[in-house]
Amino acid sequence: MRVLSGIQPTGNLHLGNYLGAIRNWVRMQDEMDGGSQCFFFLADMHSITVHEAREQRIRNVRDMAAALVAAGIDPDRSVLFNQARVPAHAELCWLLNGTARIGWLNRMTQFKDKVGKDREGASIGLFVYPVLQAADILAYNATHVPVGEDQKQHLELARDIATKFNTDFGVELFTLPDPIIPKESARIMSLRDGTAKMSKSDPSDMSRINLTDDDDAIMQKVKKAKTDPEPLPETAEGLTGRPEAANLVGIYATLAGSSPDAICAEFAGKGFGAFKPALGELLVETLRPIRTRFLELRTDDAALDAILETGAAKARAAAEPTLRAAYDAMGLMR
Ligand code: ADP
Ligand code: TRP
Repeated sequence: MRVLSGIQPTGNLHLGNYLGAIRNWVRMQDEMDGGSQCFFFLADMHSITVHEAREQRIRNVRDMAAALVAAGIDPDRSVLFNQARVPAHAELCWLLNGTARIGWLNRMTQFKDKVGKDREGASIGLFVYPVLQAADILAYNATHVPVGEDQKQHLELARDIATKFNTDFGVELFTLPDPIIPKESARIMSLRDGTAKMSKSDPSDMSRINLTDDDDAIMQKVKKAKTDPEPLPETAEGLTGRPEAANLVGIYATLAGSSPDAICAEFAGKGFGAFKPALGELLVETLRPIRTRFLELRTDDAALDAILETGAAKARAAAEPTLRAAYDAMGLMR
């Protein structure tokens, strides 16, 4: 079993990133037995599909690395690195560009969503993004790839590319990866609008809980979160049509490792005046140790860079045999 996943280093980390992605990685790492290995990386090569100033990109990578370590990714147990330090990703992407078909990429819904109407103005990088993702996965022969629901199509593409490459060159080189999509896939919504996802790009800071918010800020944001005047229902079914209430109950349940039904049962009949302080408390207790560790790690750039470099050296060694075999299968002498 080889687990691998990547996350784009985008600044301004929030509760959605933690509950929707990072926490699942930590869980998978902690459930690993001796024979398996986890690879987690910052997809900085993917991040070039969005323009960013040099200094900001450097900061984003260190921010995300610090967040992962603060949240529990242990660089001694998992291989933690950034893509740019491992040229195998870009190299294998180029080789796979010979295998991937334009028709396949044309069907990618994320590309269509991101370009909107301006397809001609989109970068080639954005179009080829899923091929680089396939290279990320196939270079390590990953078997299990924890991702959000929205990445399912990219995983299928990786399988298609692997199958076609193996067939075209008559090799059994690439392993077909399986996506691991959490059942209760936590989708955290904005605190100001229960129908919009919590996002770093929301102009209102009150809409999200940042990983760097202090205890007071967290309490304030929860108290000011949009709700409705109804009390909490007895079961989660009663939250239908109440997106803000459903979101807050969902966050509570996710943090408590419980279910929305159980949380409703606990608070049934009580108003948000009672529920919000309890939720705020739970958030503060969960996030405080992560924030403390994050801020501590962020004071030492050199130490963070050293963690990423050590991980990258392990990743380069792990990817090398597959990369070499791919060149060889294609008759490319290096
Ligand atoms: P943002 O929407 O803030 O720009 P990104 O798109 O950079 O966030 O997402 C980084 C990771 O965090 C992805 O794996 C994504 O699935 C997860 N994520 C982001 N926002 C949420 C959210 N509101 N709920 C759950 N997961 C989220
Ligand atoms: N595309 C993924 C996302 O936006 C990030 C990613 C890049 C990834 N390469 C990967 C995820 C490889 C899993 C495996 O969330």
